Amino acid sequence: MPIFPNIHHGRSTYNPDSDIPDLQGKVILVTGANAGIGFKAAEVLTSKGAKVYLGARDESRGKAAVQTIRDSISNLPSAGSVHWLPLDLSTPQATKAGAEAFLRLESRLDQDYVNQVSGIPRTQVTVSDMCESHLGIFVLTQELMPVLKQTADEPNSDVRIIVVSSAAHLQVPEKPEFRSLEGWNSRKGDGLVESGTRYAITKLANVLFTRELQSRLDAESVPITCISLHPGLVNTEGPRNAIKTGIFAYFIKLLLAAFALTPLQGAYTTLFAATSPKIKAEPAKYRGSYLNPFDRLGEISAYAKDKQLAQDLWACSEEVAEICLKEAEPRP
Ligand SMILES: NC(=O)c1ccc[n+]([C@@H]2O[C@H](COP(=O)([O-])OP(=O)(O)OC[C@H]3O[C@@H](n4cnc5c(N)ncnc54)[C@H](OP(=O)(O)O)[C@@H]3O)[C@@H](O)[C@H]2O)c1
Repeated sequence: MPIFPNIHHGRSTYNPDSDIPDLQGKVILVTGANAGIGFKAAEVLTSKGAKVYLGARDESRGKAAVQTIRDSISNLPSAGSVHWLPLDLSTPQATKAGAEAFLRLESRLDQDYVNQVSGIPRTQVTVSDMCESHLGIFVLTQELMPVLKQTADEPNSDVRIIVVSSAAHLQVPEKPEFRSLEGWNSRKGDGLVESGTRYAITKLANVLFTRELQSRLDAESVPITCISLHPGLVNTEGPRNAIKTGIFAYFIKLLLAAFALTPLQGAYTTLFAATSPKIKAEPAKYRGSYLNPFDRLGEISAYAKDKQLAQDLWACSEEVAEICLKEAEPRP
């Protein structure tokens, strides 16, 4: 009997070498891509021929990650290219600037576009906290939607929006309130339980957002597939730094080293969602779906199916983003 029977939620086998098709001609944006799961996803996508924009907020970390990938693919004749995109999802303004930088470089966002952002919100949920965990993804998607739709209009297109959520979304203890920023801010406290609950709420927001986005695109008959997913428990900086000091920190590192997926394995579910031909072949099965490692449809919580909650989240996100972006406009 495994010690952690559900830790990877029934992962199946996955082999990026044989399961990922040739991605030449595809333009892919990976956010939060200088480390962890995002970095590995960007590396594999580049090795498979895509033109990858590696979104990272810090120039030196972003450029170092790009160089590491270039070195690792230098012997692969069919590899694509990788480019640093300055992209900070901490505020709507910074996110919009990153999207604009992308649009100055590209007139298409070809196949896929993958979101990766980590971060457990602090005690008070500021716009920045809401942004890192949800609003940044919301604003980025809004800003890039014209180019995503334009690409989706082309013959044989296969545009996908992938949001990395977590099985933690199943742990939200009671119905959250997404009607206002104050609602987001209702869970305070520095303890493990409080910060864990806030993380679970943000991951619930990721699933709600993805499902609501899919339903809005479906209503407009836009052929874009939106998928959220749990990547498994992955040995990255995120969980390694969840507890920074003391004996628990030591044990967490040991447990992660022993039982967690490697960052490459942690990217497999993202890679399946972003590239698998099965998803194009069976749109009804996968549109708006939630995946568990590495390619399995996963169960979502009752809150994640709550249409009203999804609409509240959408309306609040629009309102907060609009206020922030207006404030940032130069005054006449
Ligand atoms: N690891 C797991 O076990 C696990 C389990 C379930 C779900 N997930 C989810 O998987 C995703 C990736 O996690 P990970 O473990 O790969 O995390 P990670 O190793 O901590 O990497 C997180 C990445 O996000 C970037 N980032 C954070 N805040 C950002 C911001 N405001 N703007 C732009 N980039 C930002 C970081 O960049 P900097 O270097 O600049 O900070 C880094 O590149 C997250 O959504 C996480 O919730 C992870």
